[in-house]
Amino acid sequence: METGSIIVFTCNWDAYSGLETAGAKRHSYQPEIIPIKLMCLGRISTGIILKVFERGADGVFLIGCPKDECKYYFGNKHAKTIVAEAQELLTLLGYSSGRLKMDSIAAGEGDKFTEKVRDFAEGLSKISEGV
Ligand code: FES
Repeated sequence: METGSIIVFTCNWDAYSGLETAGAKRHSYQPEIIPIKLMCLGRISTGIILKVFERGADGVFLIGCPKDECKYYFGNKHAKTIVAEAQELLTLLGYSSGRLKMDSIAAGEGDKFTEKVRDFAEGLSKISEGV
């Protein structure tokens, strides 16, 4: 992973379907964005998130299934707790809490996937510029 990368964790279901749809429509987004597929956002941990920042990432964005539509029932709820915990730790370490975000999309929402990752990357640029 290169310094300045933006890691986008997607779950294997609705979020990845959105990523695939974005690809099929040939949408483009910032080249720093590196999608990584997890079976479910419930697989994420605070340690994984902190490790990604330790390795030089600019930001981490988790995209999962909409509320109450996680295929494993509690994965996105668990991830929400993990993100809150990681944001507290990142703040203590001097990072802006805006460098870590979680959101959701429904299956096949390629346009939304592209819009959300672009917006996240643009927000990180503003944080880096101190805006
Ligand atoms: Fe999508 Fe759990 S399967 S968040």
